[in-house]
Amino acid sequence: MKKIFITGGTSGIGLSLAENFLNRGWFVGVCGRDTSKIPSSLSQNQNFYSYSADVLDLDQMKRVISEFSIRNNGLDVVIANAGISVGAKDGSLNFPLGRKVIEINVLGLMNTFEAAIENFKGRGHLVGVSSVAALSGLPGAAPYSASKAAVFRYCEALSLDLKNQNIDVSCICPGFIDTPLTKKNNHKMPFLMSSKEGAEKISNAILLKKPLYIFPKRMAFLMLVAEKMPRWLYRKVVLKLMSFVMPKKKREE
Ligand SMILES: NC(=O)c1ccc[n+]([C@@H]2O[C@H](COP(=O)([O-])OP(=O)(O)OC[C@H]3O[C@@H](n4cnc5c(N)ncnc54)[C@H](OP(=O)(O)O)[C@@H]3O)[C@@H](O)[C@H]2O)c1
Repeated sequence: MKKIFITGGTSGIGLSLAENFLNRGWFVGVCGRDTSKIPSSLSQNQNFYSYSADVLDLDQMKRVISEFSIRNNGLDVVIANAGISVGAKDGSLNFPLGRKVIEINVLGLMNTFEAAIENFKGRGHLVGVSSVAALSGLPGAAPYSASKAAVFRYCEALSLDLKNQNIDVSCICPGFIDTPLTKKNNHKMPFLMSSKEGAEKISNAILLKKPLYIFPKRMAFLMLVAEKMPRWLYRKVVLKLMSFVMPKKKREE
C-alpha cells in the first residue's frame, strides 16, 4: 500500500486530500499545529495518522515524517500544503504578518521537503502547493503572491535538480477553493470550487506526476493571459479594475 504525508492536513484542502487518498486505499499521515480540528470520522480510520507539528520547526518535521515513514515501512509522496494568507484590499500593509506568510509558505515548504527527502528510499515524489496568485502580483496580496511565486520557481528548479535521484516534483496552483482560508474573503471569488472537488483534481494530477498543474481551466487561462501581458499593460488593466471595485475616496484614505 502507498504512503502519503500531507502538511496542513487539519483543515481545508489538506483535510480533503487526506480523505481522498484514504478512499484510494493509501496510508495517510497529516500534520498541523492543531490536530483537534480533525473530524473523529477521520481520526478513527486505521490507515490515518495525525501529528502535531509546526512546519517552521525543522526538527519537528523530521521527527513526524520519519515516525510516519518507519511505522508504515516507507514513504511515497509528501505534499507541502500548509500555508496562510493575509491581505487587505484597501492597500494597507502589515509587515509582521507579511513576514509570517513568507516564512510559513516558503520556509515551511523547504523544511517539509528536507524532512521528506531524508525518508525517501531510492524514489519519491514531492508536491508543493502554490497558487494562481504565483502568476502575477495580485493587489492586496503582496506577501502571498510573492510566497507562492517562490514556491512555483523553487519546485520548478528542484524538479530539474532531483531528476537523477528518482525524485519527482510537482507544483499545484489552485484557483479559489472553498476553505476556512477563503471564507474570510469579502471579495468575489470567480470559479470557486468545493475543497472535495479541488482535492479530487489535485490527487489525479499527483497520480499522473504532472510537474505543473494549474486549475480550474478558466482561471488558469485568465491568469496565464495576465502573466504574458507586458507589465505596463498588466498594471494599467488591474488599476482600472481596482478603480471600479474600490471608490476613489477609499483608495486615497
Ligand atoms: N483555498 C484556496 O482558495 C487556495 C487557493 C490556492 C492555494 N491555496 C493554498 O492551499 C494550501 C491550503 O490552504 P487552505 O485553503 O486549505 O487553508 P486552510 O483551510 O486555512 O488550511 C491551512 C492548513 O495549513 C496549516 N498550517 C498553517 N500554518 C501552519 C504551520 N506553521 N505549521 C503547520 N501547519 C500549518 C493549518 O493547520 P493548523 O492551523 O492546525 O496549523 C491548516 O491545516 C495553502 O498553502 C494555500 O495557500 C489555497
